[in-house]
Amino acid sequence: MLTYYPWLQASAFVLAYLLFCVGCYRRYQRRQPALSSVSELDWLVAYASQSGQAHALAEQHTQQLREAGLRSQLLTLNQLDGEWLQRSTRLLLIVSTYGEGDPPDNGRFFLRHARQLNALPSLQFAVLGLGDRHYAHFCAYAEQVFQTFVSLGAKAYRPLHTIDQLHTEQLNHWYASWHDWLVAEGQAHGDNIERPTSNRALSNPTYHPWRLTERQCVNEKAGENFSYLLTLRSSIPEQQALTWQAGDIAQVKVSDHQPSRDYTIASVPEEGHLQLFVRERRNEHGTLGLASGYLCQHAGMWDSVAIAIRRNPSFHPVNDDSPLILIGNGTGLAGLRAHLMHRWLRGANANWLIYGERDVRFDRPYQEELAHWCDSGHITRLDWVFSRSETLPAGDSRQYYHHGYVQQMLLQQADTLHEWLAKGAVIFVCGSRDGMAAGVDDVLLEQLGAEEVEQLLAAGRYCRDVY
Ligand SMILES: Cc1cc2nc3c(=O)[nH]c(=O)nc-3n(C[C@H](O)[C@H](O)[C@H](O)COP(=O)(O)OP(=O)(O)OC[C@H]3O[C@@H](n4cnc5c(N)ncnc54)[C@H](O)[C@@H]3O)c2cc1C
Ligand SMILES: Cc1cc2nc3c(=O)[nH]c(=O)nc-3n(C[C@H](O)[C@H](O)[C@H](O)COP(=O)(O)O)c2cc1C
Repeated sequence: MLTYYPWLQASAFVLAYLLFCVGCYRRYQRRQPALSSVSELDWLVAYASQSGQAHALAEQHTQQLREAGLRSQLLTLNQLDGEWLQRSTRLLLIVSTYGEGDPPDNGRFFLRHARQLNALPSLQFAVLGLGDRHYAHFCAYAEQVFQTFVSLGAKAYRPLHTIDQLHTEQLNHWYASWHDWLVAEGQAHGDNIERPTSNRALSNPTYHPWRLTERQCVNEKAGENFSYLLTLRSSIPEQQALTWQAGDIAQVKVSDHQPSRDYTIASVPEEGHLQLFVRERRNEHGTLGLASGYLCQHAGMWDSVAIAIRRNPSFHPVNDDSPLILIGNGTGLAGLRAHLMHRWLRGANANWLIYGERDVRFDRPYQEELAHWCDSGHITRLDWVFSRSETLPAGDSRQYYHHGYVQQMLLQQADTLHEWLAKGAVIFVCGSRDGMAAGVDDVLLEQLGAEEVEQLLAAGRYCRDVY
């Protein structure tokens, strides 16, 4: 008996160890996603976003999946092709709508790509659409994306879920169904993925008070269409306030009962203040627009303006070594000027600015600063384009004056455009969407072809902040 005792002890120890290992393995298995045999990714998350909101939500969902140990890939809709779709059986799409039911730039080639896709019977998907019911075609592009996947035989987890102006309740409703989906998939086991609640930063951003310290009308003598440069200083500590990048957007909240209005920030944090370039808007009865009226007329000096700053990654600065072609009109100079200032502070000097306005006599905002940047070589070439002026100054070796529209001038300078693009230039377009930006887009399509425009967009070399 004595001789067997150590064997018994050893066997008991081995058995206990084996049980421990099985326990560990089970726990490990529970934390691991249930992978389909062919998928190497648990989730694809694709977004189409023009001014950053759908992008931010897609980032948030991807982050959440990754934190739960699920392998997920974040893509723009333009990048979502057959190859990616083979790599997962679960797809979440977060899609906003622009123009008149059109796609955002980083989704504009998707429907064309989709025509080449094979059937996707083993794909499960859901589409979250962001939009605004003031527009005639509410979430129309999200609807198109949804129907495209249905027609490819993919299985919709739920009907298209739309959110009007990032309404908090609608967003929370979405989060609940997203969480249910994860749990239903058996991936999350409910314990390793938190049930998300409203993304405060998006649907309910934090507004800080900024004091209006300067307001200058830049075209006083024009008699109409007045535009103002507004300087605002923060009432909160600098390190919290001065944190945006060129290209970001100030959401201005004027009324508790109305949505905020977006304004592209014209300054960079290094300047120590926030600058906006705002055109006074009036409706057909001459009544001032809510936010532009407040900013340009009603707010007194040192009055408080509630502003939340929103990241706009698709219009952020690019590599300092890349030349920039900056194209804009009207208040679109705001976003372009922020980029020029950003690059001025870094000595990034290859910049070609094409700017359109109405009348050479009145409409030359930032004239002195731009002239200084031309003289110093920061701006290599500045083309002023005026739609209502026949008589124009002679110009010099850096500043040129033209009659007409920005897009016509770009066409005339097609050789220079090709030269700059061959040197790796990045195009930034800021200002009115329908006239100017659509015209510039047509010129690019005509000069470069759809494929090259697509490549520029995919490479982040064609960036637009248009409204
Ligand atoms: C990304 C982005 C950046 C922008 N940057 C600038 C900028 O730098 N400078 C600048 O001056 N403007 C900018 N705008 C435009 C700005 O956000 C406002 O739309 C504009 O100032 C008018 O707002 P308001 O409150 O003064 O006028 P509103 O009170 O909104 O009224 C203006 C007119 O628009 C109509 N209207 C009101 N709400 C809507 C709606 N939701 N949809 C359709 N029509 C409506 C009204 O009936 C009225 O005729 C930007 C817009 C976007 C989306
Ligand atoms: C110029 C412009 C055009 C728009 N057109 C539409 C539209 O046709 N239909 C719609 O539902 N929403 C439209 N919207 C609203 C946006 O889809 C909505 O603001 C969305 O939250 C933006 O998301 P993003 O920041 O990801 O681009 C438009 C917004 C702008 C500024």
